[in-house]
Amino acid sequence: MTLSDAALTEELAPVVAGLVDRHLTNTKEWFPHRLVPWSRGEDMDADYEWDPSETVLSEEVQSAMIVDLLTEDNLPYYFETIYNLFGKHEPWGVWARRWTAEEGRHSIVIRDYLHVTRAVDLDELERGRMAQVSLGEVPHPETVHDGLAYVTMQELATKISHRNTGRHLDDKVGYQVMAKVAGDEQLHHVFYRDAATAALEADPDGMVMAIDRQVRTFAMPGTGIPGFAQHAKRIAKAQIYDLQIHHDQILRPMVVDHWKLPELEGLSPEAEEARVSVLKYLDRVDSAAQKMAARRERDAERELATA
Ligand SMILES: [Fe+2]
Ligand SMILES: [Fe+2]
Repeated sequence: MTLSDAALTEELAPVVAGLVDRHLTNTKEWFPHRLVPWSRGEDMDADYEWDPSETVLSEEVQSAMIVDLLTEDNLPYYFETIYNLFGKHEPWGVWARRWTAEEGRHSIVIRDYLHVTRAVDLDELERGRMAQVSLGEVPHPETVHDGLAYVTMQELATKISHRNTGRHLDDKVGYQVMAKVAGDEQLHHVFYRDAATAALEADPDGMVMAIDRQVRTFAMPGTGIPGFAQHAKRIAKAQIYDLQIHHDQILRPMVVDHWKLPELEGLSPEAEEARVSVLKYLDRVDSAAQKMAARRERDAERELATA
């Protein structure tokens, strides 16, 4: 028997209260407006149209910035998901509201940076925001166990994506903007990671089955962004976020190194089956990622040879 959502959130409440306190102690106040290079900005006429010559970013890095920002813009629906799933009462509600306030400044600072630098097509960006937020498409983990497994991996993935994007900007200020946001995501990740670890201790069967489900179906938020598949392809090409990174820096560190599924014993037959199967799945992801990397290398060599 696995714990119900209500039983699990109640059981975890003291741990979560401690994690909220730790988070509030570890976070340092920061101001989005202080990071923005305002002097690079210029007025725009009502009929302003972006010209690609205004940016120094490759198509791949533009895609990464657009997806990074639009993902942050979808915040109302993430808030709705976690508020409904984990509950609005203390300490879970305190966390959800604080988390929302922190996430809100991510889109503020990234958008301000893009507005002053004009590093992407700003009309396309705004149309993308309107389309995505009007759609309201976000993952909906069905149980609290699933929710914890998903957000743990998602915050880590977002951190890596923002940090790698920042490195590709070739701009010290842009790097600092993305590093600041990535720092927040890291703190969100450790909050969820430790809540999920406590859930694994409280209900190993339920949590292992949830980890199995979430690892298999994991998708970065952002599927509602117009042209998401094309953006994702470009982001992978630039190795800002690809299957190898997903396996090496998210799935394996969490499932194997942190949650230690290879060593977990005493599970119900159903959970044991999920444990074995998720570990096999990781191996398959790894080999698929290696094949993709080899193919990409061959393509790059071919491109170079024909250039
Ligand atoms: Fe964020
Ligand atoms: Fe976050």
